[in-house]
Amino acid sequence: MDTSAFEDLVPQLEKALKPYKEGFLSFSEIPATGCSREDILREMEKLKSLEEAHWKDGKVSGAVYHGDQSHIDFVNRVYALHSQSNPLHADVFPATTKFEAEIVSMTGHMLNAPKGACGTVSSGGTESILLAMKTYRDWARETKGITEPEMIAPTTAHAAFDKAAQYFCIKMHRIPVGEDFRADVAAMRAAINANTIVMIGSAPQFPHGIIDPIEELSELARERGIGFHTDGCLGGFLLPWIEKLGYPVPPFDFRLPGVTSISADTHKYGYAPKGTSVVLYRNEELRHFQYFTSTDWPGGLYFSPTFAGSRPGALSAGCWAAMVSLGESGYLRAAQAIVETAAKIKQGVREIPELKLCGDPLFLVAFMSDSLDVFQVMERMTKKGWSLNGLHSPAAVHICVTLRHTQPGVAEQFIADLKEAVAYVKANPNAPSGVGPIYGMASIVEARYMVDALLKMYMDILYQV
Ligand SMILES: Cc1ncc(COP(=O)(O)O)c(C=O)c1O
Repeated sequence: MDTSAFEDLVPQLEKALKPYKEGFLSFSEIPATGCSREDILREMEKLKSLEEAHWKDGKVSGAVYHGDQSHIDFVNRVYALHSQSNPLHADVFPATTKFEAEIVSMTGHMLNAPKGACGTVSSGGTESILLAMKTYRDWARETKGITEPEMIAPTTAHAAFDKAAQYFCIKMHRIPVGEDFRADVAAMRAAINANTIVMIGSAPQFPHGIIDPIEELSELARERGIGFHTDGCLGGFLLPWIEKLGYPVPPFDFRLPGVTSISADTHKYGYAPKGTSVVLYRNEELRHFQYFTSTDWPGGLYFSPTFAGSRPGALSAGCWAAMVSLGESGYLRAAQAIVETAAKIKQGVREIPELKLCGDPLFLVAFMSDSLDVFQVMERMTKKGWSLNGLHSPAAVHICVTLRHTQPGVAEQFIADLKEAVAYVKANPNAPSGVGPIYGMASIVEARYMVDALLKMYMDILYQV
């Protein structure tokens, strides 16, 4: 792999990604004698306080979805109480398996799961998606004899579906979305063939926060006898409450008979500590294709429902506690505040003539521009302390609204800063933008291998001490 083109970038990346090189406890080997607990705790406090202000004040898109101190303190207490628990040992820690069964049941109920529906708790959205795709692969092999499986997803479905395709040797068909950023039903229909095992729709998709036409897509899948997965990782714990509040939300859950599985992330708008998600199936027959069992291993009879063996039971405890402490009323209050804040931000973006909203989202607001380099706008926002997400094909920027942004003045500040950033870029159209050229390269097929190499280098830097 020739990475010489990026040599200049390495020191910049190292500086950005490794801010604690000087003046902090640092080890490349286990210290000969242990450090004092006081020193370690002091270091931990220091690191936490250096990073906390950034997201606490509501300057970060997504990432921390709740973040109120009393909520954090509460789930941390629960975590500490169950920090030794491991659901792999269900006989030793039956409390954790109780928590997980109830998390699945509560999530299924929220998403209108029919009798017989079921699921498991996973470590996050990506694992839920990987599990579901592996399940469809094995289901299709066993029940239909499909040995060269294929899946169909809109281009906007999360990258985790490509990861699943790569890990499980499923051929992926990515179908371009329409002008409204929704999946193109006719094009998805045209991509179905005898090897298709599953179709995907998002509620909503990560780039633009738009909900796919899941009713039509799932009906198509049902007619053709293939699986349909709704990716509700982002919206699964928010859309049900937004709908209950009376906002128009297109159907996406098990009320649609063609929907055979849903992923919904508890660690996003479920407000659980990071590290949990739920994958739900319409019936147990499907879930069985997710399970792993080993009956002839000298280590004993072995089974695990998800990818990991040992798992952090404390995270399931924290998730359960977050869900039951918020209750429906807590989720509804949060949803109301988030939708109202997103509406303010949408309105603010509409009032900036150089920007254009990407579709009409409910809580994640993406914008692009016909006249400006939107990545330069993002760069200027970064200088003002905002951490937003850059998107490409087409070039756009988004903010995923969380409870952090519902704090007084945050939405107003965002719009004021965005107006200033746009004015600045208009006045300085040639100012450099860090990610712009990289996204530019990623859009040229022949140059993609360079961006791929850069991303691998980036990950290598993360593991440098
Ligand atoms: C729609 C959607 N699906 C899947 C994921 C992946 O979730 P995770 O980062 O928890 O693996 C995300 C993450 O933002 C998402 O927005």
